[in-house]
Amino acid sequence: MPDTPYGKTRRIRVDSQHPEPHLIAEAAELLRQGEIVAFPTETVYGLGANALNPEAVAKIFTAKGRPADNPLIVHTANVEMARGLTSGWNKVVELLAQKFMPGPLTLVLPKLPEIPNIVTAGGDTVAIRIPRHPVAQALLHAANLPIAAPSANRSTLTSPTTADHVLKSLEGRIPLVIDGGSADGGIESTVLHLGTDPPTILRPGLITIEELQDVLGIVQTYAPININPNISIVASPGLKHKHYAPRSPLYLVNRLPDDYIDSINATQIRVGLITHRRLNQPLPANLSLYQMPPTPEGYASQLYTALHTLDDTGAALLLVESPPEAPDWLAIHDRLNRAAKEILNSLPPIHTLLEPSLQSDT
Ligand code: TXA
Ligand code: MG
Repeated sequence: MPDTPYGKTRRIRVDSQHPEPHLIAEAAELLRQGEIVAFPTETVYGLGANALNPEAVAKIFTAKGRPADNPLIVHTANVEMARGLTSGWNKVVELLAQKFMPGPLTLVLPKLPEIPNIVTAGGDTVAIRIPRHPVAQALLHAANLPIAAPSANRSTLTSPTTADHVLKSLEGRIPLVIDGGSADGGIESTVLHLGTDPPTILRPGLITIEELQDVLGIVQTYAPININPNISIVASPGLKHKHYAPRSPLYLVNRLPDDYIDSINATQIRVGLITHRRLNQPLPANLSLYQMPPTPEGYASQLYTALHTLDDTGAALLLVESPPEAPDWLAIHDRLNRAAKEILNSLPPIHTLLEPSLQSDT
């Protein structure tokens, strides 16, 4: 199979709030024919296929280079269609649906047999989400199908929040991307497993643990920074895989001292820095700063854009100053921890952080 089986990927630009029906109809037709299409959601861009067609879903795994043991989220236009995918749509689910759907919440529920094994990686549960973004909604309605869709990036790399990010990763590997502007949420949905008591957050996301606790009472989290060894039976298969990584190594650090920032000047090494605090010193010319908003929602909306942008500057390494340790920053910490090559408690000389192949150049 050639590396770019589709030659050039088509991009169709649509109005993000009122997508043009004839353009959406074209994309929906491709999906119905068993093709794959990238589209915006309110979290990140997804790469969709008809969830009921195993050959179509297989194209997602090929395009992304995704391991077959990592199941996909199935997206539906509405609750009625979601109910048709699971035997587990009970009162609790209904309550969650009323409060958070459509929106950035994914529920893991017992699957019905019509969902092909390739979607669920052979498991007996299915992850279901109803996206809110007008383009995703229009596409799901027009296709009138459940759509399996992971984030529209090559496996292990940073998720896309724009059509440009999708093309950077998947040009020629997919036939079409619907360009509906930037995905404003910026990080993926919260994945909640309802088969445990209490329910388990498998992946923190834009719906916070507090919001879920308001509806459900106790909710436990399964996350790298708070692992409960007793719940390994429900572990999200995706958690064991590398994720979200930019091309250049990313180091998570505490606050960088002013003199450490100054010392970068003498090194000639191109460094990217992401921080949420205001720096009040002149910055070295070889340091590219991406200034993050101070709130968790603002930070989430910019996080992947920051990683893509700094990667594109050709930075040899990225430093990220750790954001606050408060509960509403859980999803941000989760993504940063998994994108990081290493979490540094102390700061070694900067050249020792370069990939080995670059170290001799400095
Ligand atoms: O916001 C989002 O959720 C985006 C947009 C496109 O909707 N999608 C997304 O998909 O992030 P993906 O494939 O990148 O991440 C899906 C996560 C993975 O960690 C996967 O392991 C987990 O959901 N997952 C899917 N099905 C599951 C299941 N049946 N049981 C447990 N975890 C599951
Ligand atoms: Mg992903």
